[in-house]
Amino acid sequence: MRDKSITRKITQGVYVLTTDGAGCVVDAVSQVSSGSNPLISVAVMKTNYTNEVLHEKKVFALSVLGEEVSGQVIQTFGLNSMRDVNKFSFDLTKEIDGLQVVKDSLGYMICEVVDTIDTESHTLFIGRLIEADCFSDSKPMSYLYYHEHKDELIKVNTDNNKTAWVCTVCGYVFYGDELPDGFKCPKCGVDASLFRRS
Ligand SMILES: Cc1cc2nc3c(=O)[nH]c(=O)nc-3n(C[C@H](O)[C@H](O)[C@H](O)COP(=O)(O)O)c2cc1C
Repeated sequence: MRDKSITRKITQGVYVLTTDGAGCVVDAVSQVSSGSNPLISVAVMKTNYTNEVLHEKKVFALSVLGEEVSGQVIQTFGLNSMRDVNKFSFDLTKEIDGLQVVKDSLGYMICEVVDTIDTESHTLFIGRLIEADCFSDSKPMSYLYYHEHKDELIKVNTDNNKTAWVCTVCGYVFYGDELPDGFKCPKCGVDASLFRRS
């Protein structure tokens, strides 16, 4: 492979895919057909909890993220698994037609799954658009923009002179050489395994 980074120049957006009881950040979204019967595909890693639940529920919402979205949305839905943390407990979403949609998004598309394609690492879910709405005309975030602004988007400021432990879910910072036994995040309640040393 001479330079795989050219694949970053495929124009893709950044979305939060939600289904009943699960959700994750996705960029591998594509409009398969438009017109009167729009189909949208999304590739979800088989190791993601969302994949497991989506196979069962067969309906998903895609919340379109804008460039101004809060980093907490990406951090919560993209850097953590629902196996470890309840992503819907942070008031980042609201219910629409029985699905959770990101409040701080440009709008959403709801699709029912009409087909799936199995690949080695991902399932390609193909959905028929059944509902959609637009909240804002602001600029959508591209996957390239995400990579170019990743450090600021998920940045947490810490005091450089002290050892800091950062909660990967909500950004809370604990200062100390070690996390105390049985430590839980005072802000969002997750346990020590979801803290990283910075
Ligand atoms: C910018 C970004 C793009 C992502 N794109 C995808 C994607 O297209 N498909 C996918 O399955 N996971 C993607 N992920 C990873 C999942 O969001 C991540 O593995 C998540 O923690 C899975 O959560 P779950 O186990 O609760 O489903 C992406 C993450 C980020 C931050």
